[in-house]
Amino acid sequence: MRALLALTLFLTAVMPAAANPVRKDMPQADKTVEAAVETLLRRMTLEEKVGQLHFPSLAFPHAPQIEAVRRGEIGAMLNVVDPKFIRPFAEAARRSRLGIPMLFAIDAIYALKITFPPPLAWAATWRPELAERASYEVAREARAVGVNWTFAPMVDVSRDPRWGRVIEGAGEDAFLGSAFAAARVAGYRRGGLATSVKHFVGYGAPEGGRDYTGTEISTPELMDRYLPPFKAALKAGSETVMASFNTINGVPVTMNRTLVTDLLKKRLGFDGFVTSDFVAIGELVNHGVARDLEEASVLAFRAGIDFDMASGGYDLYLAKAVRDGRIKIADVDEAVRRVLRVKFRLGLFQQTAADFEALPRTVDETEVRQSARSVAQESFVLLKNDTATLPITPATRSIALIGATADSAQHDHSWWGPAGHTKPKTETLRQALEARARLGQKINYAPAFADACGREFSDKAAAIEAAKRSDVVIYNVIEDCDIQGEGVSRTKLELSGRQQELLDELAETGKPIVLVVETGRPLVLTKADKQVSTILIAWHPGTEGRAALAEVLLGDVSPSGKLPMTFPRSEGQIPIAYNALPTGRPWTGSRYTTGYVDEAHTPLYPFGHGLSYTTFAYDALVLSEPKMTIKGAIDVDVTVRNTGSRTGSEVVQLYTRQLVASRSRPVKELRAFEKMTLKPGEVRTLRFRLNAQDLGFHDDAGRYVVEAAPFKVFAGGSSETAVATDFLVTRD
Ligand code: NOJ
Repeated sequence: MRALLALTLFLTAVMPAAANPVRKDMPQADKTVEAAVETLLRRMTLEEKVGQLHFPSLAFPHAPQIEAVRRGEIGAMLNVVDPKFIRPFAEAARRSRLGIPMLFAIDAIYALKITFPPPLAWAATWRPELAERASYEVAREARAVGVNWTFAPMVDVSRDPRWGRVIEGAGEDAFLGSAFAAARVAGYRRGGLATSVKHFVGYGAPEGGRDYTGTEISTPELMDRYLPPFKAALKAGSETVMASFNTINGVPVTMNRTLVTDLLKKRLGFDGFVTSDFVAIGELVNHGVARDLEEASVLAFRAGIDFDMASGGYDLYLAKAVRDGRIKIADVDEAVRRVLRVKFRLGLFQQTAADFEALPRTVDETEVRQSARSVAQESFVLLKNDTATLPITPATRSIALIGATADSAQHDHSWWGPAGHTKPKTETLRQALEARARLGQKINYAPAFADACGREFSDKAAAIEAAKRSDVVIYNVIEDCDIQGEGVSRTKLELSGRQQELLDELAETGKPIVLVVETGRPLVLTKADKQVSTILIAWHPGTEGRAALAEVLLGDVSPSGKLPMTFPRSEGQIPIAYNALPTGRPWTGSRYTTGYVDEAHTPLYPFGHGLSYTTFAYDALVLSEPKMTIKGAIDVDVTVRNTGSRTGSEVVQLYTRQLVASRSRPVKELRAFEKMTLKPGEVRTLRFRLNAQDLGFHDDAGRYVVEAAPFKVFAGGSSETAVATDFLVTRD
């Protein structure tokens, strides 16, 4: 609470009391749009204004709802993805007194028809441009059926894989998360959707990893760890922001004026609209901060929540609250202004009846599939590959392919899976391998399980037999789709169902085992790690994913993904991330230094880790200067060579540490990265610019400070970097 108080004091001190300041780094208001908004606003009744500020929890394209739209009392709808239902709503809106067009919202995140791997996998590519493309393709598919508003991207930074929603974000790092936040916003927008960056803010740090629980976040942590991806998304033009379900330091975000109005709208200059999360306004009663929905609605509105997602509170009570003086009409006008601004910016006022009649439009599936294939290929992370078991070579004559997942097309998607109606054709891993095993290997397939999620055995003995008969075992395991995503927190992160039990027996055959893991979060693979020679994290690879997997397993493509989240050794290590603060007693292994008595100090696999079929070496770093002023910059040259015998891609990662500071600083912070492809023997030097102004942090009062201090810069192919050198930041 003290931290939030400090932030409040700071925001009050630096903010002009009235209008939003103009921030040059944020998208600027368009004069024509502003004039059109004002003209429209002047003509609206109070009921029409309220109509723009909510949608119902369920869309029923039947007479009463259509009539309400025609009266101008509902300005948006949720989860209507069928043009035959979108059309009557759109038509009713066109026939309403002012003809204000509707927003059609859905969680178009990584799947409409074709399923992409989930956003955590996008981050594992370390190529934001692939995420831009993927978002664009999903948006195109959504826009083609008439949807125009997506509840994405989720940019919550999280260091806790017990929380099921890590699948929707970019992992544990604010810098990587910011790059992907910006790319995703750009992609969805290019595809024609308004975005809703979510969940503002701190939702990714729930206590104990339990979804919806409260978070305790200090001001510096809020500003340095959780806020940057939101800033990046706003800068990229996100039209809307979704407030999060959680409390921060005891105050639910849904009624948190300091965060929603003072920080987001005033300090960050956000001029789109803020929506609550689903029925979150009503949940203020459960939080114990409002007596009933009416009071909750007034609290939320006063905090700056412009739009009520499905609680019904604004629809029922907002006009009344204006009439009895609890809410000012000027504040309602401001909320409506924000919504209309978005509708104008999206070009919705230009739509004609013919546009809706033309729905659904055709989207070229080939392009979408190509994009889904490349994201999948580049997202796979090779955690280990002892004795070079992968790629499969001609020397391998037979492969035991084990696991019902390996012949299932149903589990090609995970949570937030296809929102469309038709199921696209999807190859299973078995089909993909059989079609591509040009080297003539025999594939001995044994499902072992009765279901694709490995819950119950069908014929375990046949699987063991298949392993014994084969040169190599590919065991395809999956994190059960029902135990990930929203509302699905786990305390145990080992392989679900009976999959570990089978692995124990497969390991006894002594055959080299390739464990292909489909998951939406880091798992605890410590036992499996000792039993297998190779682990490939395939995330949930999507419609094109099994084809991409076959290409990687057979060596047509070398893996190049890197972990966007740390893989812990055990659940007891969580939360765990690479960018922890140092302690007064760094770990040495002896008592009275930090660490555990019953667990190693290090994670199983660190942030940024991922192998290739080739190897890379790093030369000593070369700086353009050994020092810079706090306004200056230096260049860091990183030379990398491919020391193996295959072409491969490496994600070169640059980290810094401020060695002495006015508060403890993380042991490493990611500052730059670039993925590049090198042929065998090829050497390349990448130049990264470090600006001193980017090396600062926030103090307790929320002020950004850059200090003159000694720093270290590190580079390598993971957060356990290969090379390092020192530099100084000086006052002048
Ligand atoms: C609740 C989730 O928290 C949010 O991310 C999602 O966009 C809404 N439901 C709407 O589906």
